[in-house]
Amino acid sequence: MKIGLLGHGVVGKGVSRICDVSKTLQVKRILVKDDWELTDPRCTQNVQDILGDPEIDVVVECMGGIEPARTFLMKAIQNHKHVVTSNKKMLANCCEDLFAEAEKNNVSIHYEATCGGGIPWMASLERILRIDPVDSFRGIFNGTTNYILSRMDLESLEFEPLLKEAQQLGYAEQNPSDDIDGMDVKYKVALSCMKAFGVIPVLDEIPTYGIRYIQKKDLDYAKSKGMTCKLIGTGIKKEGSIEASVLPVFLKKEDVLANTSMNFNAIESDSATLGKAVFTGQGAGSLPTAHAVVQDIYDIENKEAMEYPSLQEVTVINSAEKIFYLRSKQITDYADILDQQIDAETYLTKKISLDDLQKKIQEDKEIFIAEVQE
Ligand code: HSE
Repeated sequence: MKIGLLGHGVVGKGVSRICDVSKTLQVKRILVKDDWELTDPRCTQNVQDILGDPEIDVVVECMGGIEPARTFLMKAIQNHKHVVTSNKKMLANCCEDLFAEAEKNNVSIHYEATCGGGIPWMASLERILRIDPVDSFRGIFNGTTNYILSRMDLESLEFEPLLKEAQQLGYAEQNPSDDIDGMDVKYKVALSCMKAFGVIPVLDEIPTYGIRYIQKKDLDYAKSKGMTCKLIGTGIKKEGSIEASVLPVFLKKEDVLANTSMNFNAIESDSATLGKAVFTGQGAGSLPTAHAVVQDIYDIENKEAMEYPSLQEVTVINSAEKIFYLRSKQITDYADILDQQIDAETYLTKKISLDDLQKKIQEDKEIFIAEVQE
């Protein structure tokens, strides 16, 4: 099977490394952006060398970002090539158009590597769905922030140097804001809702909070209560809507997700006959993510059936009442929802829904919030 690879960064290099020792997969051309990347005779800076090559069966996109990745994949599909992508941002924003075009041209789009790095999360959802509807999922979907939170917690280190390390280890996005502000998890939650529930939420409707403003004292507080902080993405199917969010959660130490450290991800599904099942593995990094990409290529080679999801847009409602930890310079503005004081700028709230809390704090750009598990 001949492959055209778009992008030769952290994931792309992992893909060529795995394919180069495979018996049946041949990376024929590799699209790179800059002159200094022309390190392999297969490299080209002209995408037509891939999209216009009739010998290439599969186009694998590991470029990241929405454009030009979306346009290149559209053209690949129109040229009757199967497509594999690890690009969650692009797919979460453009999936309806891409799936419609793929169905028209009778080719597949595979995207295992978009969520959970090397974990076979999408494949597991597909298997569960053969028997059960999926009721909910929750998980650690981002390796960068889990690496930072684990080392802050275990070794009392500061945030900034750990972010730099996560970048050097190839976990973080080119723009790590997507990791630390929760956007990367939002895309993964949306794609998981698509696979698990057959719906596509409007991305802007998913409340999204990250760990940019976390401080050591927040983790110290969690620890003093027998908890630890994790960035959690959630999806719950409701009648006519879904609950979906991305936010730091203070988890009890005995929770299985609390014990998932470093660049590992862990995602728990819940369904009728299987019950709760947890899938874990390296959620970021070159070879684990490339492993998921190459599994998709083998599925295409083995002619695994590809379904074209008919996606319904769905409203996101987060009405369940919970307790939140809030730290803000303007904490007194929220007096009516505060309960227990921790220090001058930190409180636990009374029980409140995430939707109501979000309305109150939307102008507070440097607030740190975490849900407190009960
Ligand atoms: N930046 C992402 C993460 C890469 O840290 O999880 C894998 O999607």
